[in-house]
This record gives sequence, structure tokens and C-alpha cells, in this order.
Amino acid sequence: MPKVVTLPGDGIGPEVTAAAAEVLREVAPDVHIEEHAIGGAAYEQFGDPFPQRTRDALRDADAVLLGTVGGAQNSPWNALPRHLRPESGLLALRRALGCYANLRPVRVLPGLEHLSPLKPELARGVDILIVRELLGGIYFDGDRKIEGDTAYNTMRYTTPEVERVARVAFWAAEQRRGRVTSVDKANVLEVSELWRRDVQALRDREYRNVHLNHEYVDSVAMLIVANPSRYDVILTENLFGDILSDLAAVIPGSLGLMPSASLGDGPGLFEPIHGSAPDIAGQGIANPAAAIMSVAMLLRHGLERPQVANQVERAVALALREHPTRDLGGQADTRTFTHAVLDAMGSPSVG
Ligand code: NAD
Ligand code: IPM
Ligand code: MN
Repeated sequence: MPKVVTLPGDGIGPEVTAAAAEVLREVAPDVHIEEHAIGGAAYEQFGDPFPQRTRDALRDADAVLLGTVGGAQNSPWNALPRHLRPESGLLALRRALGCYANLRPVRVLPGLEHLSPLKPELARGVDILIVRELLGGIYFDGDRKIEGDTAYNTMRYTTPEVERVARVAFWAAEQRRGRVTSVDKANVLEVSELWRRDVQALRDREYRNVHLNHEYVDSVAMLIVANPSRYDVILTENLFGDILSDLAAVIPGSLGLMPSASLGDGPGLFEPIHGSAPDIAGQGIANPAAAIMSVAMLLRHGLERPQVANQVERAVALALREHPTRDLGGQADTRTFTHAVLDAMGSPSVG
């Protein structure tokens, strides 16, 4: 029996994870689901944002479904020593799972162009896959400090780190339209110089069927909203990928439409890209679509059930058409939307 560990976390995390788990139970009744603590909630319960009990539960897991972690800007959690903060629990989880490649799809589905704030002719047909390096760069380098009036972090990458995530981008491009745009800041940063050199060398050695180009991150931040259709796969380092993926959420219409899959050495980690949304937490109005679409990615990449994954995605698209949530200008709350997904699953156009 496959085992999925759910980690609801903080803020709207428990709300959207409950919705996602309901869908998972419906489409994969044989899966054993086990819930554990992460983030601020885990700190409150165990004094640790990634407690040993949660770590142990991952050992025999086939996949992990995460909600969100973190508090509001004024949360007392933000004054804790950094290793005890909710976000550190998430980073430790990613590291424990060894998932170095974070896939963040950005899609405007046919018939859902009206949810985008972009002109319909710009939004139509957008289908980008952001491949974000997830275990390196400035996020994880140990060379960091804040002391008196000085602070620093270090952005560092090695060739093996660049190559392993670049392989995922090239592999994904081969299943798609065959194009990778590698995003860096090579006009300023040595790290980007290495990144660009190694990505190009790997392409020339092993992936000559993939078209590769290189662009600067500042320019991509403009072009991704001005002309999103120019991109197929975007490959980039950890921090740039974090920022560009929230920006890209504008294209489909909301952060609540952005799922992700993090793949690597062990079981995959599946999570919406949005945060804990403290401004709407506890009100039952969060958009669970990103969490439910993360279940689809879990079914596809974690449990190798692509047909069921497609079925979930079609049901989400139908529910978005009929019952958009408030972040999309609609009225549906979390429950109404989730029921619409479950209902759509039974409809002939989906099943
Ligand atoms: P956020 O993503 O939580 O919220 C940004 C805005 O988007 C808010 O207005 C919020 O209401 C809205 N939003 C986000 N998800 C939504 C959804 N599913 N439905 C409807 N509206 C949604 O970003 P933030 O406010 O900068 O961060 C809040 C906390 O979340 C911080 O503690 C931050 O560190 C954390 N965070 C966690 C993750 C994660 O767990 N992966 C990701 C990003 C931020
Ligand atoms: C994300 C989040 C995380 C990140 C934070 C909460 C550590 O913003 O998943 O995009 O920066 O990776
Ligand atoms: Mn982010």
C-alpha cells in the first residue's frame, strides 16, 4: 500500500491540505495517508519546526504532500533563532528528502483566459515549466552571518549541483516543446558564469536535440509577463526561481493556481508555491486549487498514475470555470470549490 505523508503546516496550509487530501482519498483509496507536523505548528507542539517524529515518518513514504509554513510579518516566530523558524523547517525537509529539482508549472488552460489579468491574447495557451534548483545557492550556503552592522550570505554552486538540475530541465523539455531558457545574472555574478558554462556544456554533450538559450533574470522578469508564450522550460537557480515563480503566478491569475513537485534522491515533495496567507487564514476562503493540482503532480511523479493525475487536473479546470474562488474574482469558498472538483470527477467529460 503506497504511503503519503501530509504536512499541513501553518495558516491556510491545513485548510488547503485537507481539501487536497480529500481529493487524494477519492481518486486513490488504496493510499495510506499519514499526517505529521511541520513549521510553526510543529514548533509549538515539539519545539522544532521539523521534528524527529516527522523525519522518521518520511523513511518509508512514497510521497510527501505539504501545505504551507510561516506566520504573519508580526508573528513571534520571526523573532526566534533562525533554525527554529517555520521556514527553516521547510528548508530542512527539502534537504532531508534530497529534492533538488523543483518543477513549477505555469499554465493558462483553454477557457480560463478570463482569470488572467493579462490580455486574453497574451494569456492564451501559456504553458511554462519553471525548473528551480532547490537545494543550493544562497539558501543553503553555510557561509552566512549577521553581526553588528554587517551581514552576509553566500551564493555558491558546484558543477554537479548545476548538472543534476539541468538534466531535469532537459528531460522535461524533451517531453514538451524542446526548448530550455537558462536564467542567470552572468553579466555580474561568477556563480552565474559557472551556471551558464555548465548548462551549455551539458546541452552540447548530451542533449543536442534540445534548443538552449540564456537570458538575464531582470529581463526575464519583464518578458515573462509581457510575452509569456516565448517560454517553454525555464531553468534557474534557487533564489531567482523563487522570485520568478511568484511573478509568473500573475499569468494564470493567482498564486492559488500554482502547484509544484520537488524531485530528487528520495520520495517527492508536492506543495503549492504560495505561503500561509495569514491575511485570509481561518476564514475558509483560501483557493485549494494549487494544493489539489499538487496532488495531481504527486499522482503523476510520485505514484506513477498519470491517468488519474489528468483526471484531477480536468476536474480542477471544470471547477475553476464554474466556481472560481475569491482570489480569482469569484464567490466560491474552499469547501464549495473542493466539492465542485469532487463532483466534476464523476462527470463524463472528466472520468
Ligand atoms: P503568501 O503567498 O502567503 O500570500 C501572498 C498573497 O496571496 C496574500 O494576499 C494571500 O492571501 C494570497 N494567497 C496566497 N495563497 C492563496 C490561496 N491559496 N488562496 C487565496 N489567496 C492566496 O505570501 P506572504 O504573505 O509573503 O507570506 C506569508 C507567510 O508564508 C510567510 O511566513 C512566508 O515565509 C510563508 N511562505 C511559505 C511558503 C511555503 O510554505 N512554501 C511559501 C511562501 C511564503
Ligand atoms: C517557496 C517559499 C519558500 C522558499 C520559503 C517559505 C522558505 O517562498 O516555497 O517558494 O523561499 O523556497
Ligand atoms: Mn516563494
